[in-house]
Amino acid sequence: MQTIIWILNSERQIGEVSRDVYGGFVEHLGRNVYGGVYDPASATADEDGFRRDVLDLIRRLDMPITRYPGGCYVDTCCWEDGVGPVRKAKLDPAWHQLEPNTFGLDEFMRWADKANTRPLITINIGNRSVIDTQNLYEYCNFPRGTYWSDMRRANGHEEPYHIREWCLGNELYGSWEVGQMSAADYGRLAREHAKLLKKLDPECRLIVCGTPDDQEWNRTVLDFCGEYIDKLSLHDVFFHAPEQDERGYLNSVDRFEKKLTESIGSCHAFEAVHGRRIAVSVDEWIIWDFDRRMRPEEEWTSGMHLLEQDYTILEALIAGSLFSCFHRHADTVDLACLAQSVNVIAPIRTEPDGTSWRQSIYFPFELTSRYGRGLSLEPEETGNEDGSLYGSAVLNREAGELTLFLTNRGSEPLDFQMEFGGSRRLLESLTMNHADHSAVNSPRGEILQPEPLAAALDDAGNLRTQLPGISWNMLRIKTDVPEAR
Ligand code: AHR
Repeated sequence: MQTIIWILNSERQIGEVSRDVYGGFVEHLGRNVYGGVYDPASATADEDGFRRDVLDLIRRLDMPITRYPGGCYVDTCCWEDGVGPVRKAKLDPAWHQLEPNTFGLDEFMRWADKANTRPLITINIGNRSVIDTQNLYEYCNFPRGTYWSDMRRANGHEEPYHIREWCLGNELYGSWEVGQMSAADYGRLAREHAKLLKKLDPECRLIVCGTPDDQEWNRTVLDFCGEYIDKLSLHDVFFHAPEQDERGYLNSVDRFEKKLTESIGSCHAFEAVHGRRIAVSVDEWIIWDFDRRMRPEEEWTSGMHLLEQDYTILEALIAGSLFSCFHRHADTVDLACLAQSVNVIAPIRTEPDGTSWRQSIYFPFELTSRYGRGLSLEPEETGNEDGSLYGSAVLNREAGELTLFLTNRGSEPLDFQMEFGGSRRLLESLTMNHADHSAVNSPRGEILQPEPLAAALDDAGNLRTQLPGISWNMLRIKTDVPEAR
């Protein structure tokens, strides 16, 4: 059996893991909002029409931040249609939907409050003006005495929302976006919206559209607007291409990591010249058997079953590995959002009858969000020349815990050993694997779940375990490393 050894040292630090890498995303798409988050007709609806079962499951994921309202949806979105007593239905060309606008900005803010998450609002800069951005800002954040702030108050929201984080458009490099433009045009436009927002709120944090696939785009955009920008957004889709075997699919995380490293290079290049640090925001990581087919032949309706993908054990490994990828780049990646949250390529699924269930990816999300907090450590590794193991180690000095997140992408079990001087006691060891790689969770049962993993820790603090083939694993160890200096 292949043996892989990690030697960990609390001095070999990558960086503090940002809590915001455990973010979510609620786009007006399919049954994400209507029939997912919001369903006044559901037996589980609360007094605001929000599904209680969904809120409970979202809270357990402990998402500090949630992106809203799109996505591609944002390109023709007018946020004003979704506030106040008169709601205007509108066509959404991005997803061929009829948008009733009964759930809008104020409903999202109320839901976010109940879900213990804070908003990351995407602004339609592709097709709307700087003045529109100012109006949105006033509606959300200005206390009183202007047309838009008083409209918020008249709508029953006396206190401003204090929204601090904004995305300047969505994927405006993409041919699929209504409003696509060149890097220079986008950079110039983003600069003006960013300048305005920084004048209105110097402490706001602004995210500009970047792409992991085109460093020329990233560098050009940053050259135009980087002086006002805090983060470069990267979106990527993970999908099982027909020509790929399982290992090829699982290795898509390596391909993303390579592009991420190149994008970090673009941020560093900007910093070297302009002295301003730009962090990375992976504000859409998407596990999607990619299908952008629109439905022009069908009627315009809302709350349709769109992108409701079932996830197998392989997707649990992709999700788990991606969190490890964010840990491995904790010095730069300070925000990430799983796209999306409910029903649409999502960890949580619902039925109209009030049933809900957790998909395979829910569990790595929940456990990593709970325990992947602290300092990311860089292991000295031997025996992993073929890259079967992909993982990360996070040391939480306050809690006195070291947590290992380990994905075995090979089909054979791995003998895994870890040395860490501060190790004292094994707190928990879990694995997710399943013999049937096409099995999925459903309303009839959550068969893909973490289960105990046999592991042993000796008196010298050395850990030993066997990681099953095609598995995601988490091991928590009590440590007595000193508090950070
Ligand atoms: O998450 C689904 C879609 O994928 C989003 O609308 C878009 O931003 C991305 O390309």
